[in-house]
Amino acid sequence: NGLVIAIDGPSGSGKSSTARGVARRLGLAYLDTGAMYRAITWLALHEGIDPVDTDAIAALAADAELEIDDDSTATVFRINGHDVTAAIREPRISENVSRIATNLRVRDILVADQQRRITEARASGGIVVEGRDITTVVAPESEVRVLLVADPEARIARREAELAGAADTAAVTDQVVRRDRDDSTVAAFTEAAEGVTVVDSTHMGLDEVIDRICTMADP
Ligand code: CDP
Repeated sequence: NGLVIAIDGPSGSGKSSTARGVARRLGLAYLDTGAMYRAITWLALHEGIDPVDTDAIAALAADAELEIDDDSTATVFRINGHDVTAAIREPRISENVSRIATNLRVRDILVADQQRRITEARASGGIVVEGRDITTVVAPESEVRVLLVADPEARIARREAELAGAADTAAVTDQVVRRDRDDSTVAAFTEAAEGVTVVDSTHMGLDEVIDRICTMADP
């Protein structure tokens, strides 16, 4: 009767590559909840709405039409008809996303109307869901619940490699540290709730982390 694998973790913990890798290996659906907060952030900037205007942002999120087209290699995100798949990864989105994600009404809308609905609809075939509050709020009853952590130095190094020279160490350090701090105002994203397995990937390769989680799903 289905399988939900919930993976939470901070920026640069390797959460997205891990979650996607687990989904691919086990043939499960995959949901990136961070991309949803990023899409709302994109829409706010596109419409010229100030991220600190919490009422306007909540109204925007309530009316937004979010479409997610998933296949095993990539996910296409559309919001109000705009394909934002690439744009939501831009630095201007990363810089503003915490302000949208700390809006509690936006969280309610995305969690209740979108994330739980999608998770429930796909659970029978199996789904991997990743984010910050999946193990605690979105899908606390999941069969497999993992908090993926890594030392800040490792997370900074991974982000830097991902950006492939587009930013220097100081800038990336600043971004990772700042987002940890901004995100920590909503929840203790780096503390595991009861029943959640902490996987520390500081000294683990991607395949090793994927193996570990697949074993938890099918011991
Ligand atoms: O991996 P990275 O943290 O860079 O990005 P992400 O997973 O796309 O998440 C982007 C932002 O969305 C995070 O910094 C959080 O502010 C927010 N987020 C959240 O609040 N709750 C979630 N379930 C997922 C993301």
